[in-house]
Amino acid sequence: MAESIPTPADVVGVAVMPPPRRSTAAARLRAALTGLADRMAPPPVAILEGLFGVLDHRVLVALCDAGIPDLLVAPIRPADLAQRAAVDPQHLERLLRAAAVKGWVRFDRRGRVRPTRVTAFLRRDHPGGWRAWVDFAGGAEVTSAVAMLSATTAATDPFAAANGAPFFEWMARHPGRWATFDDAMAAGARMHALALLVALDWPADSAICDIGGGTGHLLLTLLQHIPGATGTVFDLPDVVARAVHHERITAQAGDMFSAVPAGFDTYLLVNVIHDWGDDDAATILANTAAAATAGARILVVDADHPRRPRDRIATGADVLMAALTGGGRERDHRALAALATSAGLRLVASTRLASGDWAHELRASRPG
Ligand SMILES: C[S@@+](CC[C@H](N)C(=O)[O-])C[C@H]1O[C@@H](n2cnc3c(N)ncnc32)[C@H](O)[C@@H]1O
Repeated sequence: MAESIPTPADVVGVAVMPPPRRSTAAARLRAALTGLADRMAPPPVAILEGLFGVLDHRVLVALCDAGIPDLLVAPIRPADLAQRAAVDPQHLERLLRAAAVKGWVRFDRRGRVRPTRVTAFLRRDHPGGWRAWVDFAGGAEVTSAVAMLSATTAATDPFAAANGAPFFEWMARHPGRWATFDDAMAAGARMHALALLVALDWPADSAICDIGGGTGHLLLTLLQHIPGATGTVFDLPDVVARAVHHERITAQAGDMFSAVPAGFDTYLLVNVIHDWGDDDAATILANTAAAATAGARILVVDADHPRRPRDRIATGADVLMAALTGGGRERDHRALAALATSAGLRLVASTRLASGDWAHELRASRPG
């Protein structure tokens, strides 16, 4: 069955993907307001709220595991919802009350629980696919890696320490969890595609290679909006085996540390470079540079990493990289430029995306 074209409403909950300047202004306003609320908190409240974040994570996972977002489609008494979900009513009500404080559900004056916009995005059949992020981030392999984070083991790999193998090796031994990870990545990939379409120029006949492109959902979304373009999704064999089917998309399996497909005019590395330490990241970029046609652009998309941290998703992504990888991190423009130079490339432009990430455009140092 052909996949439907994801709309901004499906993917991020707005009718139109905003231009980067507007989304940046909105993100700054939100950061300022939440920062103000945080600064108003008495220190003990700030400390307890910080520690209780782990409970927020668990409540979200527990409600999704019980299928609550899928069952909560209209106002309902918590006890009736508990009956439908076949769970303990008192226990469920406690979780729902915690969820209501976060805006994941809401209580009305009659004591009924109601769905919110967030509830809808958490449903299994929601076209944005964000529920997979809960399934992935709630996994024991993730929470055990996060629990290994420590200020004194910064150079090691918490995921490997907790699970016995580095992230992608472990995933290869746990295909079900790997598929869940792929699905989580696909949700972000749809968002990145829509953000890239608004922010950058895409020639009608683009030939695009998405390196570490997962199951190809970024490419699928891009190509559905650029009818003359073609693309290749390049990833590890097990992932490519799960890739989307589309007449203008080729799926190619391989190892980006050995070589990447040659001859494309645009290469994408979306949330790939941040998985790796500098030496590995430089190898991926050098292999991409070697494969790229003369004049090709290489787009590295990763989270924001400003001098003054302000964005919780960006700092969260960076700490998640610290937990899940052995050296991966978000990089600022200077670090990205240095990495490009070490791979024989130069950073020619950085464009803020509506997703809050940056698209860094790299080109060959000496155009061929
Ligand atoms: C964080 S995910 C990003 C996926 C996708 N670009 C996105 O943003 O949704 C990193 C991807 O790199 C792939 N990957 C890891 N090691 C690889 C390798 N040696 N060669 C090719 N792909 C690899 C993983 O399978 C995964 O799909």
